[in-house]
Formats: sequence, C-alpha cells, structure tokens
Amino acid sequence: MAAAEIKVGQVDDVQELHRTGLTTVPDRYIRDGDDRPDGDSVFALAHIPVIDVGELPRGDELDKLRLACEEWGFFQVVNHGIAHELLDEMEKLAREFFMLPLGEKEKYPMAPGGIQGYGHAFVFSEDQKLDWCNMLALGVEPASIRQPKLWPTSPAGFRETLEAYSAEVRTLCGTLLAHIAETLGLAPATFGDMFGEAVQAVRMNFYPPCPRPELVMGLSAHSDGSAVTVLQQDMSCAGLQVRSKAGAWVPVHPVPHALVVNLGDTLEVLTNGRYKSVEHRAVVNGEQDRLSVVTFYAPAYDVELGPLPEFVTDETPCRYRRFNHGEYSRHYVTSRLEGKKTLEFAKINPPAGEHNGTVPEQTST
Ligand code: OGA
Ligand code: NI
Repeated sequence: MAAAEIKVGQVDDVQELHRTGLTTVPDRYIRDGDDRPDGDSVFALAHIPVIDVGELPRGDELDKLRLACEEWGFFQVVNHGIAHELLDEMEKLAREFFMLPLGEKEKYPMAPGGIQGYGHAFVFSEDQKLDWCNMLALGVEPASIRQPKLWPTSPAGFRETLEAYSAEVRTLCGTLLAHIAETLGLAPATFGDMFGEAVQAVRMNFYPPCPRPELVMGLSAHSDGSAVTVLQQDMSCAGLQVRSKAGAWVPVHPVPHALVVNLGDTLEVLTNGRYKSVEHRAVVNGEQDRLSVVTFYAPAYDVELGPLPEFVTDETPCRYRRFNHGEYSRHYVTSRLEGKKTLEFAKINPPAGEHNGTVPEQTST
C-alpha cells in the first residue's frame, strides 16, 4: 500500500494530549461498549506461568514450558541470562526518548501506513479508533531491514544500548525456540534451521495516563505476527492482558527483571494449531504511565511456512495452507490490529465459531 493512498485523518500525540491536562477524551479514542477494557470479564487473580530458563531442558521445567505453551501461549521467563543492568538501561533510555519534546521525536517520523519510526502503526483510515499509545518501532536484523535514519541519536547511548540489548534478546529467542521445539518432541535446532537469518524488530510502546482509562484501549487486541515475542515491561503497573482459553482477560503482573514471552502466528501455523498465538491487548491507567519494549522474532522473509508433517494426522487434519512468510508479514502490517483476524490469511476452512479467534461458548459479561 503506498503511503499516499492512506488517509488517517487527525492523529493526536497522546503524550501531548495528556500534557494539556485534559479531563475528557477525544472521540477517536472512545471505544464502542463491547470493545472497552471492561467489555469482557477480567480475571485479575490468575497468573501466567513463570519459567526458569536456567532449569531448561530439565524434565519438570520442560513440562512446565509445554503446559505454558499449550494452555496460555504466554509465560514469563526468569534466569534468562540477560544482565539486569542492561534491561534497566534499555528501559531508562526508552523512557528518556519518550520524554523528549515532540519536535525531537518527530525527527524519526513513521510514514502513514509505515511500520518504522515514531508514530502510530496500524492506522489505515480516517474513522478508525485510535490506541492510547505512542510507539517507536525499528527493524533490527538482518541489516537490510534497518533504517538507520530512524534510530534516535538522542538520548545519548540509545543506539548502542539497543544494539547490545537486541543481540542478547536474539540469543534468548534462539534458546527459547530450541526448548519449545523440545516440548514438541522435535530436534532443538528445528526452528533455527528453518528460519534462516531471522527477522528481528523492536517496538517501544509508551502509554501515558488517561483521564478516562475505562473508555480507551492502550493497544487493540491482537496476536503477534512473529514466531516468538519477548516483552519487557516496567514495574509501574499491570497493563498487558492475555486472553485465557476460557475467554477472560488475564493481566500480566510485572515480575522484577522477568521478560514476558508469547508465541506468535508462525508457531501456530508450524504446529498446525497445537500451540496457538494468543490474543492480547494493553489497557491504560488513570494515574501512571507505562512503558514496554517489545522484540518480535520471525523467520527470514523468503521462508515458506506451513504445518510441519509431524502435526498433520487423521485426527488433526491440515488447518493452514503453505505461504511465504514475507507475504504474511506484509499482510500483517497492512491490516488493523483486530484479534486473530490476520491469521485467516493462512487458514483452510476455519471451523465454525473460530472466526476472529473468539471462543464459541464464551459470552461477554
Ligand atoms: C505488542 C504488544 C503489549 C504491551 O507491542 O505487540 O502486545 O504491553 N504490546 O505493550
Ligand atoms: Ni503484541
């Protein structure tokens, strides 16, 4: 889609809105009733599993990881090997970037319909509701997807720290994918071998406080178009929510220096739906801002994907077609964030009731 064809209308910068001390929220942020944070039940007492990476692939921990993948598609990892100082430094610099004056941040503009730079991704029309969030998104690996002009030169050290951080997270993604393969009875190198020179991108999300948090969404519900995603969130407050199998939204409570990991669409396709990419969203807060640094790790664009033969049986017939991952990626970034809708691109005859990933027996409360 050429940027010139896209009309997105007035898109305010939510930090600037917040700075004006507003007490009401512009219409474009106000969600329809069933799309509000309390539109579905929120189950605040549930917790996603916490996995000790240092214990993997020992039996008990591997079983725990398998269960986390099957039941949640989401887990937190501790003992992940990344220095806490580096996590702290990345968080500090990301926060400093968002605190810069708007004019400074706009030196790295995201084009309408674009996916890299500072601005609003996934906005494609003038009547689309907007998320209460500012974003800085950057391609990291391979070098061919980098747009160095969009890498902030301020605050000092941002680029170097992002580089060091991304190298560490890349290693962790490889390790996690090896263990995830083991939980499926596959050779540890299965995904690594298949993915080629994996694509890695980072998105930093900043959610300022909102005077009417119950009416807006920080980030619309979606599944990630990656194989795995690694999310670092600050300790200020919970905001990320995961759709449980029963249909309720479960908040991901921050654990100090843990990283949140989720399975993306690629793994759902490769496992023929044995593991699912799970819907998630971010809600915002009336008093506190919130920051997340999110790494998406996916196959190289030229990789062909489809269910692995191990997962296609008489009982579990093939549910996804074969496709080129680059094509899927393009489809993903040119579509609105809307539950699991983007994965329909790959689905063969979605069974009745599975449209948009909603659970058939679930009712809104
Ligand atoms: C994402 C995402 C959630 C958050 O960026 O894909 O799901 O808490 N972010 O920022
Ligand atoms: Ni996400």
